[in-house]
Amino acid sequence: MNIKQTLEAIFEQAMIGAGVSEPRPIIKQSQRAEFGHYQANGVMAAAKQLKLAPRDLAQAILDQLPLQNRYTFEIAGPGFINIRLTHEGLTEAVASTAFPVNIGVDAPKRVVVDYSSPNLAKEMHIGHLRSTVIGDTVIRVLEHVGHDAIRANHVGDWGAQFGSLLAYLSETGHNEQARTTALADLEKFYQAASKKFKQDPAFAEKARGFVVQLQAGDPELKALWQSFIATSMSHGQAVYDKLGITLTQKDAMPESQYNDDLVPLVEDLKDKNLIEESDGAQCVFLDEFKGKDGNRLPAMVQKSDGGFPYLATDLAALRFRHRVLEANEALYVVGASQQLHLRQVFAVARAAGFVPETLKTRHLAFGLVLKADGTPFKTRDGADVKLVDVLDEAVDRATALLSARDNDLDQQEQATIARVIGIGAIKYAELQKNRTTDYVFDWDTMLSFEGNTAPYLQYAYTRIRSLFRKSGLAAPDSNAEITLTEPQEAALALKNLQFSEALTQYLDDYQANILCNYLFELAGSFMTFYEHCPILGADADLKASRLRLSQITSETLSTGLNLLGIETVERM
Ligand code: ARG
Repeated sequence: MNIKQTLEAIFEQAMIGAGVSEPRPIIKQSQRAEFGHYQANGVMAAAKQLKLAPRDLAQAILDQLPLQNRYTFEIAGPGFINIRLTHEGLTEAVASTAFPVNIGVDAPKRVVVDYSSPNLAKEMHIGHLRSTVIGDTVIRVLEHVGHDAIRANHVGDWGAQFGSLLAYLSETGHNEQARTTALADLEKFYQAASKKFKQDPAFAEKARGFVVQLQAGDPELKALWQSFIATSMSHGQAVYDKLGITLTQKDAMPESQYNDDLVPLVEDLKDKNLIEESDGAQCVFLDEFKGKDGNRLPAMVQKSDGGFPYLATDLAALRFRHRVLEANEALYVVGASQQLHLRQVFAVARAAGFVPETLKTRHLAFGLVLKADGTPFKTRDGADVKLVDVLDEAVDRATALLSARDNDLDQQEQATIARVIGIGAIKYAELQKNRTTDYVFDWDTMLSFEGNTAPYLQYAYTRIRSLFRKSGLAAPDSNAEITLTEPQEAALALKNLQFSEALTQYLDDYQANILCNYLFELAGSFMTFYEHCPILGADADLKASRLRLSQITSETLSTGLNLLGIETVERM
C-alpha cells in the first residue's frame, strides 16, 4: 500500500468512528507545501449529510485517528485536513520500501490493447504517431504492474484501398516488372492509384470489382494482395523499430483475419432479431444512437452490395477478443473522430451477446497533431507527412544540437545519443500532452534541455550517473541506510515513494501526462537536493545515504522513462 492508500484506509476507519455512514475519504497530494504533504477532502460532504459543522466533524475524525507518530494532522479552512508525514514516518516508509516502487496487483487482468492499427498500402504517417506511442505506453505500464497485456495491431489490410492498387496494377500490366516497380515505392503507387480512383469513375468501378473478386478468393489477386501486404508490413515494422515500439509482426491481428466470421456474424444478428434492412443494407438500430434530428442512427453491418464494412470487422474482432483471447478488458487507442463508431461496436456487441457485461470496453481517444499555425500536419501539397521522415528529422536535429555543444563524445557514441534524444523527444512531446486534445508539434520545444521535455529528464539521469562515476565507487551501496537530515532530502525521498501513486493514477484513465509530470517533478526534486546537499564531500555515512537516495532516484527515473518507451544514456 502506498501512502495515499494507507491514509485512505486510516481515514475511512476514523470517519466510521465519527459516525459517517458511507465514508469516502479523498486523499490527495497537496499542491502547496504549506498545506502539508497530503490533504483529506470529503469531510465537508459528510458534514453536510450529517448536518454538522465541517470543522467539528473534522475534529471528531481526528479524535478517532489512531495515535501515531507517522503523521501530523491539522484542520484548515472550512474543514480540510492537512496531513504531514513526520520525519520518523518518512524514514520508516523509506526503510521499508523496495525501490523503484511498484503497485502490486492482486488480480491480474488480461487486457487487449488495440493500438497503432494503420491501414496498409500506404506508409505510416504522422497521424499514426499518437496511437502507436500512447498505446505502447499502455502496454508497458500494464505489463510492468503485472497485468497480462495483449498487443492487438488491427491493421487495415482488407479495405477498398487494395481494389485501387490491384486495378492500377492491372493497367500497368500484371507482370513481374510492374509489380516490382509498384512495391519499390508503394506509397507513390498508392497515391497515383487513389488519385485515379477519385477522378475516373470507370476505374473506380473496376477497383470495386477487384475487391469483390479478391474477397471471393481469386488466387491470382490474392497473391498480389499478399505481396502488397508483406511490403507494407515491413515498412511498418521498420518504423516501429526506429521508434522503439514493442510491436512485432506477430502482434498483427489484421482485418482479413475475420473474413470467415462475417457471414455467420450477420446471420447471428438476424437470428437475434437485431437486423433491419435500410436502403438495401443490413443495419442494427439501437435506441441509444440518435442523430441531431432525433432519428435513429444505423450501425451498418453489411452493405447493399454484400460487402462488409469496418463495423462488421470490428464486431468480429471484439468477439474474438472475448472468446479466443479471453480478455477481461478491451482498450482501443483510436482517434477521437471514431468515437461514434466504437460506441456502436461496443453497444451492438453487448446487445448481441457477443461479449458479456463483465468485459470492459474502453475507447482511449486522442486528438490531432497540428502544425504551429494550428493547421493539420501535412506537406505543402497537402499530402500526409511520412512518419519515417519525421523520425529521421528528429535524429538529425538532435545530432546538430549535440555537435553544437562542447563534448568529447566519439562518433558512435554521438550517433547513439542523438538517436536516444531525438526519438525520446518526439515520444515525450506526444505523451506529455493531455491525450484527448489536439497538440502542436514543435521541434524547438520538444528538443529543449529545459522544461518538461525528454532531453531534460535524460540529462537529469546522466547527472546522477556522472555523480556515481565521480564517487569512485563501482556502484553506490544499495544497503546504505537513508537518513533524511535536510528538507530537500525528505522531499526527494517522498517523491520517490510517490511513484506508485502516479502509476495508480495513470491506470485510472491512461493519461501519460500523469507519468510525465511525475518524472519532471522527480527530476526537479533531485536538482534541488543536489544543489543544497553536498554528496561526495559529506561524512561517510551521510555520503552513503545521499548516494543511495540518488541511486533510487536514477532507478525511478529510468524505470519511468522506460514505461514511456524512452531510453536513457550514461552521458550526453
Ligand atoms: N485502421 C483504422 C484507421 O486507420 C484504425 C483501426 C483502429 N482499431 C479498430 N479496432 N477499429 O483508421
